[in-house]
Amino acid sequence: MQPSPPHPLHAQPAWLSGVIIRRAVFTDLARMEWEGQYQHFRNVYAEAYRRARDGLSVLWVADLPEVGLIGQVFIQFICDRLELADGVDRAYLYGFRIRPTYRDAGLGSRMMEIVEDDLRSRCFRYLTLNVAKDNFRAIRLYTQKGYHIVAHEPGIWSYPDHNGEWQTVEEPAWRMEKKL
Ligand SMILES: CC(C)(COP(=O)(O)OP(=O)(O)OC[C@H]1O[C@@H](n2cnc3c(N)ncnc32)[C@H](O)[C@@H]1OP(=O)(O)O)[C@@H](O)C(=O)NCCC(=O)NCCS
Repeated sequence: MQPSPPHPLHAQPAWLSGVIIRRAVFTDLARMEWEGQYQHFRNVYAEAYRRARDGLSVLWVADLPEVGLIGQVFIQFICDRLELADGVDRAYLYGFRIRPTYRDAGLGSRMMEIVEDDLRSRCFRYLTLNVAKDNFRAIRLYTQKGYHIVAHEPGIWSYPDHNGEWQTVEEPAWRMEKKL
């Protein structure tokens, strides 16, 4: 698929052409914590990296040389909920975020295009994601990109934080899906 043309109302900022979108390497894990803001997800990222090493997922990062990681998105090929990712037809997108300074410039869209092209080349036919019901900007972006709501998700999940203490998140969400 060709990349989307630039948004007619927005000029491309100069930094955008310097961004390298690539697979995460081990040393990126600490950088994904940003300045401590996401250190509670240390074990989540480590587990995601192990799964990537085993070929069960891909962790994509946006690297701006001289600045560092400015975005990330994780794709899981298979999980225990086959309606999200079944390893054959359907993959699951999560952990998507761009640093605030670099939002609304088309980077998130570009990352999604790369992710979708990569999945097509692996013969996946659907990409699913969960988005918090009050995340209106993300819902609008996904809708523009061809995703539609297919189900309600209670959005309750638990993870061990960087101190090994279990945290529970409750974030009612929409499950959205796109046919690739
Ligand atoms: C959701 C998120 C990842 C999107 O990333 P982004 O880089 O801002 O995405 P884009 O810039 O491609 O698109 C955002 C908007 O900028 C517009 N835009 C601005 N300049 C653009 C350009 N040059 N080219 C394309 N689109 C551009 C897009 O049209 C889009 O418009 P919309 O708000 O009307 O939908 C980002 O906002 C984010 O990190 N949010 C916080 C975390 C989050 O909510 N993650 C999603 C969890 S499901």
